[in-house]
Amino acid sequence: MTPPTTFVRVCGLDELEEGTPKRVEIDGTPVSVVRTEGEVFAINDICSHANVSLSEGEVEDCMIECWLHGSSFDLRTGKPSGLPATRPVPVYPVKIEGDDVLVSVTQES
Ligand code: FES
Repeated sequence: MTPPTTFVRVCGLDELEEGTPKRVEIDGTPVSVVRTEGEVFAINDICSHANVSLSEGEVEDCMIECWLHGSSFDLRTGKPSGLPATRPVPVYPVKIEGDDVLVSVTQES
């Protein structure tokens, strides 16, 4: 049975600067929250290639780049666009309620 989706408030919308990732933790899960292209995305903060924080990388359009070896991950799907990473990073559903940004890590989107 699929567990119920629990959304947690992670920050206010006005705390997110366009193109600057914000690292948050939800129940011990590190998440990078990114506002770009008029949307807000949530992706697991750990690169699938090594234990590196994606929120320290650059955002361009809907991609976040790992600063260590340069793989970029699609914020919509978590899929890497190129080597050395080959595995996707989990992405999570985001809800905007008023000025609040809510993310659920109980279910990968
Ligand atoms: S640690 Fe991210 S691409 Fe190598």
